[in-house]
Amino acid sequence: MKLQAVKGTFDILPDAQPYWHHLYSAAERVLTRAGVRELTPPVFEHSDVFVKSAGASSDLVVQKEMYTFTDAGERSLTLRPEFTPGVLRAFVEHGMYTLPAPVKLWCKGPIFRAEKPQRGRFRQFHQVDCEFLGLASPLVDAEAVTLLYRVLGACGLKNLTVRLGSVGDPEDARAYNSYLRDELGKRATELSEMSRERLRLNPMRVLDAKDEGDQKIVGTLKRPLDFLNDEARAHFGAVQRFLTDWEVPFEIDDSVVRGLDYYRRTAFEIHHAGIGAQSALGGGGRYDGLVESLGGPATPGVGWAFGVERVLDAMEQDGVEVPRSPGPTLFLVPMDDEAISEVAKLASELRSSLSVHHAYSRRNPGKGLRDADRSGARFAGLRGERERERGVYTFKNLRSGEQHEVSEADLKTFLGARLKDVR
Ligand code: HAM
Repeated sequence: MKLQAVKGTFDILPDAQPYWHHLYSAAERVLTRAGVRELTPPVFEHSDVFVKSAGASSDLVVQKEMYTFTDAGERSLTLRPEFTPGVLRAFVEHGMYTLPAPVKLWCKGPIFRAEKPQRGRFRQFHQVDCEFLGLASPLVDAEAVTLLYRVLGACGLKNLTVRLGSVGDPEDARAYNSYLRDELGKRATELSEMSRERLRLNPMRVLDAKDEGDQKIVGTLKRPLDFLNDEARAHFGAVQRFLTDWEVPFEIDDSVVRGLDYYRRTAFEIHHAGIGAQSALGGGGRYDGLVESLGGPATPGVGWAFGVERVLDAMEQDGVEVPRSPGPTLFLVPMDDEAISEVAKLASELRSSLSVHHAYSRRNPGKGLRDADRSGARFAGLRGERERERGVYTFKNLRSGEQHEVSEADLKTFLGARLKDVR
């Protein structure tokens, strides 16, 4: 067996970790300030939770993108292909509908979709997800879009485009789908196979076709926005007014179509020009009715998720600098065999307040100091026969080159005074 990560999955190596931490802490800071509280649902759920939510014509179901398995108890379980259904299940299970609305929740973690891997598309990837439950007001839609924009801004991204649309209420979507069925039905033979399948299941999704021929046909058709009822149109107008008032830039997308079936009214995506074909960093929308369809009480909701890997790619394209994790404060060098256990003991004591690394075998001073330098340490502490006889350590400031001998008895005080600023 070749030792290799499964296709579409990858390791997040130590050098990459500072970028992940930067992103997650930016998200936490912005969302916490807005009263959004973190929830961590399990990685897998009963399959029904995801199947019922995504809808029969969603990509997850049509393209069989879910990792589903049967456990020893004959239960059908699925690795989460998105956060939203698990969050709603938890919201209902823990009676959060009794809390003052909107209940604002966010999550972070791995997501699993059996998709064809390419740039920006993996089989295990990560999302930051945010849900606002309990209010139907357009104010909440606008807050959701704004927070997505602000979180990505706090990650250091600049070239962001918010595309805002509306898919209307279910009756609008039905009317639009029936219009599309008539119009596209006449030209079905000219459509790609994928679009013919979409025409059968959910014609609106044909608008999202990648095929050029399909797009030419789509270009001649009316848009979902042409079919909005008066209330849905007023809702859409109000969301736009809030965003304009709050100076969140957006473009109207008259055909925003999402890969999940549950959206009602507001639907949006946020794109970045620098990351290739999969340019959507994130997306979301309103999903009134979804909590009921899962068996919970009537609860309106709106939310979004973004793909962490895509955002990290965009940060790289925008040249976002992230503070590197600092090296240790002190690097201890044993210069004879007896010193090996001495420095290990000292390191272990000092680690209650400092970051201390050491060499694990005897080093001559030159090599020891090079190791210390390479570790990124501020100070090196050397210990050998001469130091033992005199009851001291030799300390070197690796930036200034300054060197001191410090007696064992004074060691802690010396370190306390010297190092308190660089911890
Ligand atoms: P989604 O559009 O399916 O929405 O996914 C959100 C984001 O996840 C995408 O914009 C993309 O950045 C990232 N993403 C999706 N698939 C992959 C993949 N295979 N590899 C890497 N990144 C990917 C949802 O998941 C909804 N649950 C969002 C939502 C929350 N709507 C309401 N609340």
